[in-house]
Amino acid sequence: MLASPTQSRPDPDPAAPGASPRRRLLARAAELARDPAVRPQLHLEADVRTWARIDGPDGCEAWLVGWPPGTATGWHDHGGASGAFTVLEGLLEEHTPAAEPSRETDTVRLPPGGPHRRALTPGAGRAFGPHHVHDVLSTGTVHAVSLHLYAPALPSMRRFAAHGGLLRLVDVEHPGAWT
Ligand SMILES: [Fe+2]
Repeated sequence: MLASPTQSRPDPDPAAPGASPRRRLLARAAELARDPAVRPQLHLEADVRTWARIDGPDGCEAWLVGWPPGTATGWHDHGGASGAFTVLEGLLEEHTPAAEPSRETDTVRLPPGGPHRRALTPGAGRAFGPHHVHDVLSTGTVHAVSLHLYAPALPSMRRFAAHGGLLRLVDVEHPGAWT
């Protein structure tokens, strides 16, 4: 049986002097999410995820994503880009291996008890490095909306399939697949 997801809280001081690049990226995502001109750029559909490219700060690639309940990304990495995302509305859950791989890899082992699960409520967010692998799911009863930043711009998204306790690379998507 899967353990209950942990609750992620907003980083208490992500923009502090000396903060890591990841924390600064998360702070930029949170700041952009608070811009009242941003959220209206996303159109929601009843049954499928939707996304909208928006202007990102400092050359970051930025997206708004709408998530009907029950939808998910599937397991993927970000082709060597670092990233951050924050929840504006609804409830997301991020599944990850026990630790972020230290290099690009075609196979990732999950913990014996299943992936680590983090519940992300509005205002919560996550930042990650270039080899992060995750699956993000909409687990609430209403649409979720999230904002995502990538630095540099996404060169690809590598997709993985779960076989038992192992994630195996099965496909590589390039920007034409989502733009
Ligand atoms: Fe992702």
